[in-house]
Amino acid sequence: MQYHRYGGSEVLAVEEVEEPHAGPGQVRIAVRATGVTPADWYLRSGRLRDFVSPAFPHTPGMDAAGIVDEVGEGVVGTAVGDAVFGLVPFADQGGAAAEYAVLEAWAAKPRAWSFEEAGGAAGNIDTATRVLEALAAAEGMTLLIEGAAGGVGTITAQLARARGLAVIGTASEGNHGFLERFGVVPVTYGAGLADRVAALAPRGVDVVLDAAGKGSLADLVAIAGDPERVVTIADFDAARHGVRFSRSEAGESPGWAGLPLAAEQADQGRLTVPLHAVFPLKEIATAHDVSALGHARGKIVVTVP
Ligand SMILES: NC(=O)c1ccc[n+]([C@@H]2O[C@H](COP(=O)([O-])OP(=O)(O)OC[C@H]3O[C@@H](n4cnc5c(N)ncnc54)[C@H](OP(=O)(O)O)[C@@H]3O)[C@@H](O)[C@H]2O)c1
Repeated sequence: MQYHRYGGSEVLAVEEVEEPHAGPGQVRIAVRATGVTPADWYLRSGRLRDFVSPAFPHTPGMDAAGIVDEVGEGVVGTAVGDAVFGLVPFADQGGAAAEYAVLEAWAAKPRAWSFEEAGGAAGNIDTATRVLEALAAAEGMTLLIEGAAGGVGTITAQLARARGLAVIGTASEGNHGFLERFGVVPVTYGAGLADRVAALAPRGVDVVLDAAGKGSLADLVAIAGDPERVVTIADFDAARHGVRFSRSEAGESPGWAGLPLAAEQADQGRLTVPLHAVFPLKEIATAHDVSALGHARGKIVVTVP
């Protein structure tokens, strides 16, 4: 699946291209499923053009699950035929919405997950792990997640619970029961959030993740009491509030270590990947459009035939 110029989801088209090959330290997989994230359609629409410049034609897709069919030089512990899930070499370059994709970081697919679940997991595990490290999230703390019902929010909440944190998560009321399934105390976002959170956490909130990017950083800093205790992954106004913006960078990510740990937790029944919707690759334009509605409950995934 590729596009040759910025535009609406109609620029996406299936094309025949040269197969990619695994370089040193990489594997190539026959892709079974890949995740769709808001960054896929931000990038496609040109909204990120001041920050990243994708090479055209661009193949979207930042994470995937499938069967290893090529092992690069220096790779140990993974063999052709293994089922894995993981991340493309650099998120901004995409490449996973295809029959074959090269992965730079991966782990064995948990038996507990379908390929659909595994295909939409790695990016959010990487992000959640990176953010929890940045916040020095530790047992006994209380974490507030703004935008807890989406792809990043549901994974971050579960990984935080597994680390022994209490989690309060914002969502629209229709998603409150959904959040409770993950041990998250739900709260409605928007005006008056500080009062609602204070009622739920009388001793205060230790750390905050803004996974929504809806302009609430001033409120979130007031709730945390210190901008150092807040990380956003979605609000480009972060610096004005003294808040750190976390994003994937080229090169090794502190989030990669989260992949095998998360796989272990999945097989212990402690980490699930709730799926909002699954589309076949030829309907990836619809998957982008559904993501752009901004109300995914869990992860949107595309399967590759
Ligand atoms: N920097 C990074 O490394 C990185 C990595 C991944 C994602 N991101 C960014 O992080 C954001 C979230 O990604 P995602 O994949 O989790 O998105 P997603 O799956 O599309 O989730 C969207 C969620 O946002 C919630 N939401 C909508 N309006 C809200 C509001 N005003 N306040 C609070 N929550 C609201 C929705 O909940 P309701 O339906 O209940 O409203 C929905 O569950 C996106 O902007 C994405 O680009 C950044």
